[in-house]
Amino acid sequence: MALLKIIKAGAPILKETAQPVQHITKHTKKLLDDMAETMYAAEGVGLAAPQIDISEQIIVLDDGNGIIELINPIIVEESPEMETGTEGCLSVPGYYGSVIRHKKIKVKALNRHGKTVVYEPEGFLARIFQHEIDHLYGHLFIEKADNLRRVEE
Ligand code: NI
Repeated sequence: MALLKIIKAGAPILKETAQPVQHITKHTKKLLDDMAETMYAAEGVGLAAPQIDISEQIIVLDDGNGIIELINPIIVEESPEMETGTEGCLSVPGYYGSVIRHKKIKVKALNRHGKTVVYEPEGFLARIFQHEIDHLYGHLFIEKADNLRRVEE
């Protein structure tokens, strides 16, 4: 496995819509492994491929309950209930802000074996899903955040 360089806000790739994965290959599986290693090393809870300079619809995340891998994720349902919570981003180091997200969503994606998987995350986990899926459409949390603040690390 290998640690990947995390791209910071300002890079054009972070504003682009990522391409759907057409074929899941050995390369895709190595990328998922490297992304997970990179996320854990950076002490993040999620990482999307554009953040490591690859414009593909691939995400890894872990809210503390184990790794979740998403290829070509699509949000198919969103609760009307919203929730405000604090977010940060590995591409915007040191900054935090309050973001309103759907409290619960339903997401369809492919796993590394090309099988369709369905998740129905709530609360913090739903927040991570929404933050990471935003990355695949060129959006950073700082566009949506209130009370954006810098915390010395
Ligand atoms: Ni992020």
